[in-house]
Amino acid sequence: MIEIQLLNEKCVKCGACASECPSGVLLRHGEKAMPEVADTANCIGCGHCVAICPTGALRHSLFAEEMVREVNRELLPSPEAVLELIRSRRSNRSMTACQVPEKVLQDMLEAARYAPTAENSRKVRVSVLRGADIRNVEDATMRFFLRLARILLHPLVRPFTRTFLKDLYKQAPALESFRRQWEKGERPSTCNATVLLAFTAPAGYDFGWQDCNLAYQNASLMAESHGISQVYMGFVQTACKLFGQKRTAKLLHLPQGHRLYALMGIGVPAFKYSRYTVR
Ligand SMILES: Cc1cc2nc3c(=O)[nH]c(=O)nc-3n(C[C@H](O)[C@H](O)[C@H](O)COP(=O)(O)O)c2cc1C
Repeated sequence: MIEIQLLNEKCVKCGACASECPSGVLLRHGEKAMPEVADTANCIGCGHCVAICPTGALRHSLFAEEMVREVNRELLPSPEAVLELIRSRRSNRSMTACQVPEKVLQDMLEAARYAPTAENSRKVRVSVLRGADIRNVEDATMRFFLRLARILLHPLVRPFTRTFLKDLYKQAPALESFRRQWEKGERPSTCNATVLLAFTAPAGYDFGWQDCNLAYQNASLMAESHGISQVYMGFVQTACKLFGQKRTAKLLHLPQGHRLYALMGIGVPAFKYSRYTVR
């Protein structure tokens, strides 16, 4: 049971907590009235009330004092810095075998945790894969697409593919290049990433796609700020969709009952882009 308390001696009756509460748990009746705590069963635990209170007059049972921090505005990047980071981010696919520092990974997971989620439900989980687990994902993906290509590019089927599956047909040369790299022991579909991050949410949760991909983007920009490459693994994700839930869960070590909604490959880049192109 959530408890919210307003300290009489500290409250300046500004009403900010009541106006910011998205669930109508804090109500204010009149300009100079102290906000009233209504049914806390509706509280979504977003912490807006605690964060907005200018005098620290609000006690919330979900947020012990050490869980409420001052914003260090001196640390905040300028709008220009944020925009330059966003503009200069690239899906840099030239990843080396060097390990991504643990600190970077932890910062990325922290950034993912701070992404908005529907009703503050924070159901997103991130599975971290390395080494042989990534190799298994790579091999399963490549085998799947090469088998599919053998069928779709068979001389008897090819005219049909060319006419009716134009987008797929356009991918044939890229797949052929992937095949050559894969046969040399490289991991083209996972871009030789040294870590895969699988963003998941419970099956049946309505906002899995949205929550996971917002978390993805936070983590992606965090990685970029550390100079670490990140690439969206759409190719692998498409294979996983066709593998089905059970096989995907096993391959990516997903939490019980979770579905894959975004997949990121990360690694230390071989080189950095020094330009961005105008969009
Ligand atoms: C849903 C989605 C799927 C993607 N799948 C892949 C992929 O499988 N392999 C890859 O190398 N890049 C993939 N990308 C990266 C895009 O190709 C890339 O974002 C786009 O070309 C723009 O380039 P940039 O990210 O460097 O700005 C994917 C991106 C998205 C959003």
